[in-house]
Amino acid sequence: MSNEIKKIALLTGGGDCPGLNAVIRAVTRTAILQYGYEVIGYRFGYRGLYNNDYIPLTLDSVSGILHRGGTILYSSNKDNLFDYLVEEDGKMVKKDVSDVAVENLKKEGVDVLIVIGGDGTLTSARDFARKGVKVIGVPKTIDNDLGATDITFGFNTAIEIATEALDRLHTTAESHHRIMLCEVMGRNAGWIALEAGIAGSADVILLPEMPYDLNKIVEKIRSRETQGRLFSIIVVAEGARPKDGEVVVSKIVEDSPDPIRLGGIANKIAYDLEKLIKDHEIRSTVLGHIQRGGNTSTFDRILSTRYGVAAVELINEDKFGNMVCLKGDKISCESLENVIGNNKNVDPNGELVRVAKEIGISFAE
Ligand code: F6P
Repeated sequence: MSNEIKKIALLTGGGDCPGLNAVIRAVTRTAILQYGYEVIGYRFGYRGLYNNDYIPLTLDSVSGILHRGGTILYSSNKDNLFDYLVEEDGKMVKKDVSDVAVENLKKEGVDVLIVIGGDGTLTSARDFARKGVKVIGVPKTIDNDLGATDITFGFNTAIEIATEALDRLHTTAESHHRIMLCEVMGRNAGWIALEAGIAGSADVILLPEMPYDLNKIVEKIRSRETQGRLFSIIVVAEGARPKDGEVVVSKIVEDSPDPIRLGGIANKIAYDLEKLIKDHEIRSTVLGHIQRGGNTSTFDRILSTRYGVAAVELINEDKFGNMVCLKGDKISCESLENVIGNNKNVDPNGELVRVAKEIGISFAE
């Protein structure tokens, strides 16, 4: 057992994601039951660390949360303490307030900070590690776009939800001989669209990594008709774009470290297709935040629990400045220095795209 460690803190940052509560529970239980650490949780991500707003985490307070989406610690995707909006002389200015956070950790006697988040949250985790804070990262995001790990928790739940949506769209599309588009999340990575598209038996999958040609979508729809298939299902990643065009931005969140919010591409494609296809009705569905809500899938409950246990084991092994990750079927860790800027996108020449193509799915390239 690592002798110096007595107290650890957790925070959840960025967009929420199924499995956060499962990690909080696993960390708290392992820390208390195996190592006798005291555990606290900062509320609202880094903002709580800045405001010293925390709650004790006990075996009781983490009871009954394993399956629940969201985070009992709440989250924020706006608060980068290295570039934080504060009021000074009546004006709002951005400042590096990370020293306040470090002082708060010292004041509370926190020896180690476990940060559960995606790219943005883990960038700050790395920066706190550079300042000498003992930090452990846990990779969260439904987008599955962190290169240092094979799978982030939350992704499996998202593709389960998207797949179920595609199953449901099938029956209604078939009844009306309609073209149905389903827009899924994922930012600039097409993992949700690709995997849900394969599992949900899509006819066309449109990915950010493979810009589409509208005419190829029409070709696929027409070729299905020659086989007597009078409906088609098109899965569209929110970051998809035409060969000769741009992504569709739904809003700019000014005070967010990553201000661009994508969304609206499925509606645009429906509108464009309507000009080329007159003999079918076309409808689009945007799944949006439904992909992040509700209960956590069985796979994510297990992965999150493995990550939570591994995070506390890293503390015991004095392996600070690392993020837990999954490589193949083994849990391991990777330096936070290597995690940031190492994003993972769908490889257009990779195995999954090839598998999809082999069974006749079109990427409308
Ligand atoms: O990164 C997770 C994610 O759900 C993306 O897939 C999506 O583009 C974005 O967050 C949505 O952000 P917000 O919750 O701020 O609308």
